[in-house]
Amino acid sequence: MHRVLVPSDTPSTGLVELARDTTAPDGLSFHHANEGKPLATPWQIAALRAQRVAKHTLPKGYILDCACGSGVQLAAYGAVLKQPLLGVELAAERAKASAVNLHNIASYARATDTEWYKKSLIIEGDGTDPEGVLSMLSDDQRSIAFLHLDPARPRNSRTHSLEEMMPPLHLVLGAWKPHFNESEQEPAVLLDLSPRLVEQQRAEVEAIVDEVWPGISRTWEWTSRGRGRVDRLALWLGGISDIRASRRFVRVPSSAADAPIVLSTNTVVEPINVQQTPPKRGEWVSILDAALLESGLMAQWLKSTAAGQEGRWAFLEGRRPQLHHDRPLQLENNDQLLVQATGKVVELLKFSLDEATVDELVEIAISHQLKSVKLRYDLDPSMQPKLQGSLDRQLRRRNGNKNGFVAQHPHRNVLLLCVCQEAP
Ligand SMILES: C[S@@+](CC[C@H](N)C(=O)[O-])C[C@H]1O[C@@H](n2cnc3c(N)ncnc32)[C@H](O)[C@@H]1O
Repeated sequence: MHRVLVPSDTPSTGLVELARDTTAPDGLSFHHANEGKPLATPWQIAALRAQRVAKHTLPKGYILDCACGSGVQLAAYGAVLKQPLLGVELAAERAKASAVNLHNIASYARATDTEWYKKSLIIEGDGTDPEGVLSMLSDDQRSIAFLHLDPARPRNSRTHSLEEMMPPLHLVLGAWKPHFNESEQEPAVLLDLSPRLVEQQRAEVEAIVDEVWPGISRTWEWTSRGRGRVDRLALWLGGISDIRASRRFVRVPSSAADAPIVLSTNTVVEPINVQQTPPKRGEWVSILDAALLESGLMAQWLKSTAAGQEGRWAFLEGRRPQLHHDRPLQLENNDQLLVQATGKVVELLKFSLDEATVDELVEIAISHQLKSVKLRYDLDPSMQPKLQGSLDRQLRRRNGNKNGFVAQHPHRNVLLLCVCQEAP
């Protein structure tokens, strides 16, 4: 059974999960239902994504999201692409939240009188049943311009296996294939997947896609909002893929006023290996963005920021990939966003840092005119704040003028005190 919700006629009564999205402009809050907030795409990511989809020419027809949740991504597509929206959601209250959000976002964008908004609908029902969904529309409106799918995944999933996704990819793609607007170009599809999918699972996704559209062009996109995490992993297919890129990395800045960093490549990613060398004063240590590393685009970024240098990776796993190199990085524009810390090694600390030895580090830091030293290695979580607090307190009162950090050398018994390269 499917039920139509017309956004301008859907009241918000009964929706109690109104939440502010800190990435959305002031005055824009979203309704959710059945604890839908954690599932919703943050507004800034949804809007940036819509802007990149807008760089492609879509055929006429509906922008379809067949598991639209609270409708945040769907509404962002409407505001940017200005094409009619069709959202399908199984959970009744969430479908209602989608309709209300769509209306609120269209009002915010002063678009409630536009043709695209007047045609936009939310359908409460099963997104794997196109016949049921399309029977709610008039005959002349039934073609699909673009399909977005962000399937639900169990919270706390350990495996992130494809079978856990609801609705399942293969059912959605196979069912909707006949309903795309027939145009010269390949169908335009965006699959918003678990950011934790490993290479083998990405290959499984590609196999499912190839079953439906053999050989369709594709671009994988890793999106990060910082903290070294991949926030979204998406596969852009056919009409919205980038023919010059098989992989893309997007670092979303904290301020919506700034442009994201976008890197892309069409070349096969070469494996990177750890290369351990003895600790050395005078070499440079950079702790870089773990999400950039995961996207496979680190080597490309280093071609410009560490041009002509043979870097040596001390750590590749975890939240702090650490590169050792011979000269400072050449950072331009927003490059700093991809650097947790970079600096020159000025001391090799051959003692382990604890409450008894922290004063020794303070004295060494002062001798290098440091006004702050951040601990950039994995420490016992109960010790970290104590030691960092002690360093901050003691160094603040001295007359240092440089920033520094401590990194771990892979020979576990050596720490590296580094003086930061100042931001350009
Ligand atoms: C991750 S959420 C989508 C969030 C959305 N992108 C947003 O920005 O709010 C996935 C949604 O798929 C819905 N769902 C699961 N199976 C479905 C099905 N067969 N048909 C329609 N929706 C379904 C779930 O109820 C859930 O709300």
